[in-house]
Amino acid sequence: MARVPLIAGNWKMHKTHLEAMHLVQALGHELAGHDFAKVEVVVCPPFTSLRTIQTLIDSDRYEFGLGAQNVYVEKEGAFTGEISPSMLAALQVRYVIVGHSERRELFDETDDDVNHKVRAAFAHDLVPIMCCGETEAERDAGETDAKVERQVRRGLKGLKPEQARTAVIAYEPIWAIGTGKTATPEDAQATCSLVRKVVADAFDGSVADDLRVLYGGSMKPGNAAALTGQADIDGGLVGGASLDAGDFAAIVKAVPR
Ligand code: PGA
Repeated sequence: MARVPLIAGNWKMHKTHLEAMHLVQALGHELAGHDFAKVEVVVCPPFTSLRTIQTLIDSDRYEFGLGAQNVYVEKEGAFTGEISPSMLAALQVRYVIVGHSERRELFDETDDDVNHKVRAAFAHDLVPIMCCGETEAERDAGETDAKVERQVRRGLKGLKPEQARTAVIAYEPIWAIGTGKTATPEDAQATCSLVRKVVADAFDGSVADDLRVLYGGSMKPGNAAALTGQADIDGGLVGGASLDAGDFAAIVKAVPR
């Protein structure tokens, strides 16, 4: 099965619901005529904009997919402030970013937490975009491969092969996030290929062939083609540049197909 490239915009904590609406409309304009079957496009706004964007996608027949940036593991209950996978699924949210480095670092999410969220996502027909990646110090110490392998193995633990096959893994070197520094296409390729090898070892080769691996970390219109042109890079998780409709659309259009 050929992997369909995916470009996902991680808006982080940006945009009110009104601003979100304007951004999606501008993006719809920029991507008029785009073949979404060739390069899938997903926007991941904050929770407060999901309902607004869902209705906008429905009414204006946009072909964007909708993603959330986080999820809790329980279906419902006394968990003040949390959002359940079934609540997201009811909003036609298809993807959920899990284990972003900001959540791991600022909100103390562990590999086990990430694994629970990945499994909770699948239990409610959501597709996790599970993030992994090393800090600059870890990279300098030559620990990139070991860390990424550990995060991928622990994050996907307990999944059925047919679930793992549809998962998305985003390799995001932490030193490249929001810094304007990008991994070279060769370095990014090497780690994304490692991710695929780990998945092949944990499941099997056909699962690894089908699973999509994204690169994230200062992806911009100018570097998107070189990064997404690598054999094991199936698209991007885009932060800063996803807040500008022109830049985000340019990244989508840069993906070789
Ligand atoms: P960036 O963020 O594109 O702004 O570096 C990527 C991310 O954090 O997912």
